[in-house]
Amino acid sequence: MTMAGSGVYRCVSITAFISFLLALALVVPSVVALPAQLTPFVSLKFSWTSDASAHSSPPIIVPEALGCDEPSTMASFVSLFFTSLATLASATVQDPKVSPRPPMGFNNWARFMCNLNETLFVQTADAMVERGLLAAGYNNINLDDCWPETERNSNNELIWNSTLFPHGMPWLGNYFHDRGFNFGIYTNAGNMTCGWYPGSQDHEELDAKTFESWGVDYLKVDGCHMDLQNGRNYYQEFEYRYKLWHEVMTTKLKKPFIFSQSAPAYFSPNFHLDKNNTDWYRTMDYVRKNGELARHSDDIKVYGNNPTNTFEPGGHWESMMNNYGMEVRLSRYQSCGFYNDPDFLIVDWPDLSMDEKKTHFALWSSFSAPLILSAYIPDLTDEDIAYLTNKDIIAVDQDALCEQATLVSSNNIFDVLTKSLANGDRLLTVLNHGNETTTALIPIERLGVDPKGSYKAKDLWTGKTNTLKDPISVDLRSHQTAIYRVSSANNKPLSITPTGQIFNTFSLNCLTATGLRRGPNVDFLACNGVNTNVWQMTDESMISCLAAKNKCLTVDGEDVGLEVCDKSDKNQRWSYGISGNLVSKKNGLCLTEGEDGEVLAAKCGVEFNSQVLALPAGVKLEN
Ligand SMILES: *[C@@H]1O[C@H](CO)[C@@H](O)[C@H](O)[C@H]1NC(C)=O
Ligand SMILES: *[C@@H]1O[C@H](CO)[C@@H](O)[C@H](O)[C@H]1NC(C)=O
Ligand SMILES: *[C@@H]1O[C@H](CO)[C@@H](O)[C@H](O)[C@H]1NC(C)=O
Ligand SMILES: *[C@@H]1O[C@H](CO)[C@@H](O)[C@H](O)[C@H]1NC(C)=O
Ligand SMILES: *[C@@H]1O[C@H](CO)[C@@H](O)[C@H](O)[C@H]1NC(C)=O
Repeated sequence: MTMAGSGVYRCVSITAFISFLLALALVVPSVVALPAQLTPFVSLKFSWTSDASAHSSPPIIVPEALGCDEPSTMASFVSLFFTSLATLASATVQDPKVSPRPPMGFNNWARFMCNLNETLFVQTADAMVERGLLAAGYNNINLDDCWPETERNSNNELIWNSTLFPHGMPWLGNYFHDRGFNFGIYTNAGNMTCGWYPGSQDHEELDAKTFESWGVDYLKVDGCHMDLQNGRNYYQEFEYRYKLWHEVMTTKLKKPFIFSQSAPAYFSPNFHLDKNNTDWYRTMDYVRKNGELARHSDDIKVYGNNPTNTFEPGGHWESMMNNYGMEVRLSRYQSCGFYNDPDFLIVDWPDLSMDEKKTHFALWSSFSAPLILSAYIPDLTDEDIAYLTNKDIIAVDQDALCEQATLVSSNNIFDVLTKSLANGDRLLTVLNHGNETTTALIPIERLGVDPKGSYKAKDLWTGKTNTLKDPISVDLRSHQTAIYRVSSANNKPLSITPTGQIFNTFSLNCLTATGLRRGPNVDFLACNGVNTNVWQMTDESMISCLAAKNKCLTVDGEDVGLEVCDKSDKNQRWSYGISGNLVSKKNGLCLTEGEDGEVLAAKCGVEFNSQVLALPAGVKLEN
C-alpha cells in the first residue's frame, strides 16, 4: 500500500514473492498511467510490508485515533446494461431475501491462505457439525483464492486444481449441502485473482453459470488486477464490473448467489494514498444496491506471529482494531440484506488472548456483521466453541433489525456502543481498549432511554440479569468487552431517541459542544467520551447535546451554533442520509468541518471528506 517509492518490500511466501515480482513487471506501467491508483497491485490477499527500517508504515486507524484525550463513450451494450439496471427491482437493500440476516460460516483465507484442499474442507464441515457450530448458525463454508487451475479449459471455463480437489467441486458442494451448509467460492472482478489464478473479467456470465452448475450458493468477488477497458478509469471499471456481476446474478441464474463484494476495500482509507475518502463512500453507495456484503477495508491479518509479515501494520489485535475503526464509519449503509463486512473472526491466533478473541466476537456481533470464522475448526478449544456458540450474542448479531451498533462515546480507554433490538430492548457494548483494568461509568441516558425509568440488564457473557443503577458501572480488564441486553423493568419495549457521537468519518473528530459557560458553541474536536460529544436526534429532526439539553444545533446562513430548542424554528431541522451529509432543512447547506475544527454550513459536495459524518444508529435516512 505505501508501496509508492518506499523501497524494499518483503513478502509472506514464495508464491507471494513470485507474485510480487510479476506485479512489478506487469503492473508498474499501468501505475505510471494512473499515478493515484496503486491498488491494482496491492493484493488484498497477499500482504506486503515495506522493510521495517524504511519507516514507512501506513497510518493505522485504531480507536485511539477515534478517541482522544480525556475530558466515455460506452458501447451500446453498456447503455443497454444501465437501462436494464434501472428497471431491476432486485437491489439488495430493497429486497433483502437473498440473505435476510448477516451470513455466518467459515472461510479458509486468514488461517490457511493458499494452503487449501478437499481434506481441509471435509474436516471443517465435519467438525462444524460435531462441535455444534452448524446448529448455532454457522452454515456457509466458503473457499477463498487459489482453488483453480492456472489455465481455463478449452471451453474457457474455470477448472479446479484436481490435485487439491480430487473429487471435484460438485462433489464438495454436495458434501456441504448434504450436511446443511451453503457452498461458497471465490473469484475476482479483475482479469486475475489476487493469487494470480484466472480472474473473471469478461467471463462474468460464463463463470457464474459454471459456479451454479457446481452448486455454489455464495460468491466472493475480489478486486485485484483490474484491466481498464473502454476508457473507464479505475473507479469506473470497478463500478462497471460489480454492477455487471449484480446483473448476471439476478438475471442469468436460477437464484442469485449471496454476493460478497470486495470493491470498497480498494478505495478504503489505508489504500487511498490521495487522502480522499470520496470514492470509498461512492463505492459503498453502489455496492449496497448490488449484493449482500461489502468487504469495506483492509484484510484482517493472516495467521502467524511475525508482526511484519503483512502490510497491515501491528499485530493481530491492532489489525482487528483497525477494521473495527473502519466499520464504525459506515453504519449508515447497513440494513437487513446488506452488511458491512469487517472481515473474518480469527479465532485460533496464538497471540490473541481469550479476552481479545471474545472482544472480537462481541464487537462483530454488536455490528450485526457477518460472522465468518477463519480457523482450524477441529483444533478449536472447548472454550473457543463455547463463546462462538453463545446464543444470546448470536441473537444480537442475527437480530431482525440488522442495525449496526454505533459509538455513543469514545476516548483513549473506553468505547461505548449501542443499538436497538427487534423486541424493543437496547444493546450496550463497552470495550476497554486501554492497557489497564478500569471501571467505566456510563450515564443511563446515553442509551437513548428516559433516565428516570427502571431498567435491567442481562450480561450476555454470564447470562445474569441485574437491575441497572445510574450511572452504569462496568469493570473491564484491558481489551475486554462487556455486552448487555438492556430492557425495561416491566419488559415493555423501550422508547428510544437515537443517541451518540456525531463524527467526521475522515478526520474522526467529534462534533463537540464547547464554551458552555460563555454561551454554547460547537467545534469538531478529538472525541473525549463525555456528554459534550453525545447527541440526540429527535423525531422532529432536531439535534441536541446531552451536555446542553435545551440547546439545539441551529443554522444561521453559514454559521452553526447551539440555540434554545424551538420546534417552530426551521433553522433547527436537519436531514441525514446515505450520503453521510447532515443537511439543513432550512437552507440546504451541509454541516462541514472547516479549518481547525470550525463547524460551518457550506454547499454540499459529492461526499466530501469535510462533510461525511457518522450519526447514531436509529436516525432515519432522508437524503
Ligand atoms: C490439506 O491442507 C491442510 C491445511 O493446509 C494441510 O495441513 C494438509 O496437509 C493438506 N492435506 C493434503 C492431503 O494435502
Ligand atoms: C495444484 O495443486 C498441486 C498440489 O498442491 C500443486 O503442486 C500445483 O502447483 C497446483 N496447481 C496450480 C495450478 O496451482
Ligand atoms: C490483465 O490486465 C492487465 C492490465 O490491463 C494486462 O496488462 C494483462 O495483460 C491482462 N492479463 C490478462 C490475462 O488478460
Ligand atoms: C475527492 O475526490 C472527489 C471525486 O473523485 C473530488 O470531487 C474531490 O474534489 C476530491 N477532494 C479532494 C479534497 O481532493
Ligand atoms: C497502551 O500501550 C501501548 C503499547 O505499549 C501504547 O502504544 C499505548 O499508547 C498505550 N495506551 C494507553 C491508553 O496508555
